[in-house]
Amino acid sequence: MLRYLTAGESHGEALVGIVEGMPAGVPLTAGMINGHLARRWLGFGRGGRAKFEQDQVHIYSGVRFSKTIASPIALRLENAAYMRDKSGWPEVMALEGDGAGIEPVTLPRPGHADLEGARKYGFDDIRPVIDRASARETAMRVACCTIARVLLKQFGIQVGSHVLRIGKVGWQEDGSWHKQRDALLGSGAEAVNGQADQSQVRILDPELSKACVEHIRETKRSGDSLGGVYEVVVTGVPPGLGSYVHWDRRLTGQLAQAILSIQAQKAVEIGDGIVNTSRPGSNVHDEIYLNNSQDYQRRSNHAGGLEGGMTNGMPIVVRGYMKPIPTLIKPLGTVDMASGESQPTRYERSDVTSVPAASTVAEATVAWVIANAFLEKFGADSLDEMQKRFSDIS
Ligand SMILES: Cc1cc2nc3c(=O)[nH]c(=O)nc-3n(C[C@H](O)[C@H](O)[C@H](O)COP(=O)(O)O)c2cc1C
Repeated sequence: MLRYLTAGESHGEALVGIVEGMPAGVPLTAGMINGHLARRWLGFGRGGRAKFEQDQVHIYSGVRFSKTIASPIALRLENAAYMRDKSGWPEVMALEGDGAGIEPVTLPRPGHADLEGARKYGFDDIRPVIDRASARETAMRVACCTIARVLLKQFGIQVGSHVLRIGKVGWQEDGSWHKQRDALLGSGAEAVNGQADQSQVRILDPELSKACVEHIRETKRSGDSLGGVYEVVVTGVPPGLGSYVHWDRRLTGQLAQAILSIQAQKAVEIGDGIVNTSRPGSNVHDEIYLNNSQDYQRRSNHAGGLEGGMTNGMPIVVRGYMKPIPTLIKPLGTVDMASGESQPTRYERSDVTSVPAASTVAEATVAWVIANAFLEKFGADSLDEMQKRFSDIS
């Protein structure tokens, strides 16, 4: 179905991506992608890089006159960090030469890929690991996956997200945010983004938003970092995407993988998965009835729109749980890989929390999974053909 590859180092010249498998005739411009790239920089508590990176995608192929032409779509995003005067990155990340005069990084940071990446690939300088394991890579992922999101939009499928909690502050596990969220979902998942993007932490409640900002401020003052929880929602999804017939076709598993593939995401919840474990089944399973048009409906959505690895026509709800950022102002203990001496970590420019940003990346990766499942069921060579299949089948 759909495939994409990304390449690029965080402080190299650019990130590149290739998307393959998009049907012809899907409207696509750089502007459509740039809007979502800008959303990836949202959130109070971001580090210095948010101030100067202006992600503007360049499309090199696969598009003509603002529509896809079925050929692979090649994308490029420059790293402003590399281009900045006196940044030193062109020398540190040089493609040729022997690196003489470049100081190696030898202090692995706990919570990062540093130590195991360097040992695995036999590096005596951790820099290649730092630069590829970095979440800067998610900028190109957002760019590639936004193309999938644009395809879904042609069929009225919308993807949105909002933050539930930063550290300990925010909505608690009782689902008290459902009412506010569901009121917005009536107009489609993008309405959730419309409101969440107004908050400095992408949280729907203004009071909680202020409390989260204060929590981030205090945490920064104490030299620490925070994780949190967010929720991705998808509306307009037809029933029957994914399948129960084989483990790797279960959409539930594919969605979990999509979230956990993002740096620092450590748990995933589908629907009310966690709280459902402590409720009796009669309060969990979503009762079925026929409405006046003889369509199957549900009285609730505790399953998050997924049963048996398939969509059931209710909004998809997936939550992501992010660990605290591992780069701290407060040093952690580590060992110098060159000397073997115990040392404190050195602080580098970093976010205090990136939960709001992660929520937008998760939207993109979820859109990719849903688009792939959608193509499996309704796929064709062109958007016109897909639209015919869609109206025939659904
Ligand atoms: C959007 C986003 C931004 C991030 N920003 C930072 C950051 O500024 N500093 C940092 O130390 N980690 C940051 N991280 C987390 C690290 O990339 C991640 O923890 C690290 O690569 C190790 O991967 P793992 O946590 O999946 O094991 C960010 C993650 C995401 C999703």
